[in-house]
Amino acid sequence: MNLLSSTEAFSLSALSLACVGVVANTFQGDGEPVIASLAFSGLAFASSYSMIRWLGPVFMNAGLKGRDMSKLKRTEIPESLGAVCALIYLLTIIVFIPFPFYKDIVAATSGGGNRDISVSEDHQISGRSLHRFPHSKLATYLSAVLSLQSVVILGIGDDLFDIRWRHKFFIPAFASIPVLIVYFVDYGVTNVVVPMQLEPYLGQMVDLGWLYYTYMAAIAIFCPNSINILAGINGIEVSQSIVIGCLLLLNDLLSLYAAPSSPNPHPATDPHYFSIYLVLPFLGVSLALWSHNWYPAKVFVGDTYCYFAGMVFAIVGILGHFSKTLLLLFIPQIINFVYSAPQLFHVIPCPRHRLPRFNARTGLLEPSTTQWQRPPRKSAALLLNLLAGLPVALIKLEKNNLGEIVESTNLTILNLWLVWFGPMREDKLAIGILLMQLSCGLFGLFVRHELALLVFRQDNRQ
Ligand code: UD1
Ligand code: MG
Repeated sequence: MNLLSSTEAFSLSALSLACVGVVANTFQGDGEPVIASLAFSGLAFASSYSMIRWLGPVFMNAGLKGRDMSKLKRTEIPESLGAVCALIYLLTIIVFIPFPFYKDIVAATSGGGNRDISVSEDHQISGRSLHRFPHSKLATYLSAVLSLQSVVILGIGDDLFDIRWRHKFFIPAFASIPVLIVYFVDYGVTNVVVPMQLEPYLGQMVDLGWLYYTYMAAIAIFCPNSINILAGINGIEVSQSIVIGCLLLLNDLLSLYAAPSSPNPHPATDPHYFSIYLVLPFLGVSLALWSHNWYPAKVFVGDTYCYFAGMVFAIVGILGHFSKTLLLLFIPQIINFVYSAPQLFHVIPCPRHRLPRFNARTGLLEPSTTQWQRPPRKSAALLLNLLAGLPVALIKLEKNNLGEIVESTNLTILNLWLVWFGPMREDKLAIGILLMQLSCGLFGLFVRHELALLVFRQDNRQ
């Protein structure tokens, strides 16, 4: 497992060489940042793939390992390899910095940024507009790097020291400060458009003011944590992130190319390119991790990956000015979070692990349960009975002959899926959840791009 096979080594070297060639070529003409980003993503894939292989045993020796609980032998495999991907990603987007600005640096400002502004009289008379280096675009990009670095430090700390939930929960909000400041200085829009049906009561726009910043900080807390709690079966953390990443790309393409044509570049163009530059290398490193983490897993991703992935999405949503569309891609995570809330807020006890239970006899996963040593308090019992008594049961209970609850299934959508569809193999469960994620996301984008005009007066692409 630790050494690359000759086919792998050959394919990865060929891919890397091709990508280096493409990057070198982008220096001709105006520079092609999207093509360069694609090539950098290929390089990021190749380096993550090899590094995951090489560093697996190093991580094991350092104590970064975990037991695969849903296997017969419960073997130990390296944990936290997502940290390798996060670091390669950070280096990639740092090396990429000059590329989106190549045109501004070299072509439009003759290699000097805007230091060489000296305007001849002719220019002033003919009214030729001066090209200034877009410092705000650079600030946007750098703030993203800064926020991501902070959250990766949190993730690595968590993987090393297993930080408590209540301590780590808010850290992404602090990490998002650089991004929020840039949003404030550069864009500062805190208005939300009101649906036409509510306009008579609220007007066309409502200014949320500082509440909007609280909302964006909440997005930064939600995205990383929600990926981390939709976890526990091979491949699920990284696959859900890949699906969300692909949907974000689709959203960018729809916004950039399916928009009604206009003679002037639309102001929403830059944020979508920004999103592409951040998402493509993310997909590169994630695919490399996926190929090692999919069933049967050879490595675990660790919390670093979940925080890092969630923060990439939060940053892209905030700085791309489409944080509400982003939430449409997080529907399963939102449902999982709401469903988990009684356990997260300790109305119902929350064991250290809530991942589905492996039945060694059948080799299938079953819903995992919380054992009640003492009968639950009245409020908890009421809630549990309510969830179990719905026409479509949202929980399965085990009661003793006094009618007291002795066991209840854990509140995650992975367990719920097993309650509804019965025991199944780990990969089948992962595929089911992923198809659901994909369908919800496509539906979300359909609503955003096709149905929005039923509710809102104008689509911001127009
Ligand atoms: C979160 C969940 C926890 C879930 C865990 C699984 C909440 C509040 N916390 O905790 O319920 O059990 O993720 O990742 O919902 N593991 C496997 N197979 C896998 C992935 C993980 O057996 O495919 C086990 C391994 O023993 C691994 C451990 O889970 O070492 C990783 O758990 P960790 O990420 O540290 O858990 P949390 O994120 O704290
Ligand atoms: Mg985790």
